[in-house]
Amino acid sequence: MSRSAHPAGPRHADVLPEGHYSAPPTDLNVLDEKVWARTVARNDDGAVTVGGIEVTRLAEEFGTPAYFLDEADFRARCRAWADAFGKDADVFYAGKAFLSRAVVKWLYEEGLNLDVCSGGELTTALDAGMPADRIAFHGNNKSEEEIERAVSVGVGRIVLDSFQEIVRVAHTAQRLGKRQRVQIRVTVGVEAHTHEFIATAHEDQKFGIPLAGGQAAEAVRRTLRLDGVELIGIHSHIGSQIFDTSGFEVAAHRVVRLLAEIRDEHGIELPEIDLGGGLGIAYTSDDDPREPHDIAKALNEIVTRECEAAKLRTPRISVEPGRAIVGPTAFTLYEVGTIKPLDGLRTYVSVDGGMSDNIRTALYDAEYSVALVSRTSDAAPMLARVVGKHCESGDIVVKDAFLPADLAPGDLIAVPATGAYCRSMASNYNHALRPPVVAVKDGEARVIVRRETEEDLLRLDVG
Ligand code: LLP
Repeated sequence: MSRSAHPAGPRHADVLPEGHYSAPPTDLNVLDEKVWARTVARNDDGAVTVGGIEVTRLAEEFGTPAYFLDEADFRARCRAWADAFGKDADVFYAGKAFLSRAVVKWLYEEGLNLDVCSGGELTTALDAGMPADRIAFHGNNKSEEEIERAVSVGVGRIVLDSFQEIVRVAHTAQRLGKRQRVQIRVTVGVEAHTHEFIATAHEDQKFGIPLAGGQAAEAVRRTLRLDGVELIGIHSHIGSQIFDTSGFEVAAHRVVRLLAEIRDEHGIELPEIDLGGGLGIAYTSDDDPREPHDIAKALNEIVTRECEAAKLRTPRISVEPGRAIVGPTAFTLYEVGTIKPLDGLRTYVSVDGGMSDNIRTALYDAEYSVALVSRTSDAAPMLARVVGKHCESGDIVVKDAFLPADLAPGDLIAVPATGAYCRSMASNYNHALRPPVVAVKDGEARVIVRRETEEDLLRLDVG
């Protein structure tokens, strides 16, 4: 993800400061299709359209800031993942990336399953009609109520994350007269090359049960002893925004070794292996994500090879992409409010949203792109920092990016690849009203999550 400083290219100040940016693009009006949703284009008048609708019209109708989600792109990505893995594997969309009832319906129609990690996500999934047996329930500290609900509605699997949970789920299921299908989430000790906060398979963190020291093997022993649970497989999720499959290779190797140990000790071959999600997407032109077909091929080969070596039947594989499906399908549209050129540094462009609709830059040092979308411009590129309207200097949406030097208040700018972990991690900081999500398809736009209102804020504040 790292980019080197490039003090090159025209600008209204002569020297560019140090920063994480590439050389300015030769034409700021060109939209790199790598980072934009599939139906995004510029029309003959220079205005950007999505699903055939001009963003200026969308801003008028739905206001800013707002997330616009390209439904055709979302569906195409679901199909690409389902096709890539085929009928002998299962794709679970990770709902934490972005979940709404419309999205659940699309997933269902495109043949995907759903991974949820809270009672709220479970409610949304069930309310939208996702069959419970196509839902996996995750979480490192599921409450008794969440477990009881998940078991009673009959979720397809609960992914066990601790020794306490093995007993909790087994007892709840037994009390309800059920046998719950479960997987055990293990930590394989892989260092994923991503930000520390989104890496999850090294041992010193809260998720999963370590393979190290025989803890995972002990978890298997305890699970197999309890009647309320049926152990169907082992789960591993190594982290997020990962671009190469070498981490998965190590994870698969270690999980398969555990499967072989289980066979040797208990005489059973577990039928499933889940390799989690985590595949990266392009946030900027410098990122090169892999296609689902490539990923599926690589993961299938890795698991098959490891199983052959261990003389095991190849288990059914499942994966849980979240970001790779929804991330690229949406952009956030903002209106420019103020512009402050700081000589020798950069120009601060304040927009009408900020860290309340995209916390990723502040939290993970994430990089994003940005473009002027309400018109074209032939002005020189200026190094800009897009900031929000919150009372915090870390309220940065795009750290370093080039925008045309004639940018003016009232212009609309858009930040692509904000479909994942932006609306789902949005907050009400400074009593900001969380933006709507508007689905756009074939010339039609409809709100799928409405904008919050001040009445919503006051409703929670009971006085
Ligand atoms: N499966 C499990 C068990 C997970 O914990 C996650 C993500 C996924 C699948 C989906 O990962 P994805 O394919 O979306 O990378 N808020 C952070 C990401 C946190 C991911 C948490 N777990 C961010 O904005 O980058």
